[in-house]
Amino acid sequence: MNTTFNSLLTRVDHILASSKSPLQEICDLLKEEVPHYNWVGFYLMNHKEQVLELGPYAGAATEHIKIPFGRGICGQVAAGGQTLVVQDVQAEDNYLACSIETKAEIVLPIYREGQLVAQLDIDSHALNPFTAEDQLFLDTVCAKVARFF
Ligand code: SME
Repeated sequence: MNTTFNSLLTRVDHILASSKSPLQEICDLLKEEVPHYNWVGFYLMNHKEQVLELGPYAGAATEHIKIPFGRGICGQVAAGGQTLVVQDVQAEDNYLACSIETKAEIVLPIYREGQLVAQLDIDSHALNPFTAEDQLFLDTVCAKVARFF
């Protein structure tokens, strides 16, 4: 992994070990430090009601506080359980727009003890911004935060 992502993982570890609101701080950190991450947030899986519920986030307020499983990119990850990388949201039919500035999105599932418990959602104002390095980095972040859900 590149040095920026490596040093961010060290800071994530520090936040997880010491912060009173680690999930919020991690959203703030990723949004501030990675130029192509313009909205960073967690959605929590509510299996009983089959909806995703917005958790801590950094970036513009969103109307998508609750998302039914199956709807939008996040809802598809809730239903399918696997990461979705959308490099151009205009090319995606099942997409819920948060901001007209958003051009791309990555949504990663967060598993705790084999259960899909949450998601990490990142919107970008850039087109085609996400690399395999992003995915590796964000997978590692998801594994680290899983015990907080
Ligand atoms: N675009 C997402 C909705 C959540 S916002 O990006 C914060 C989707 O299609 O699921």
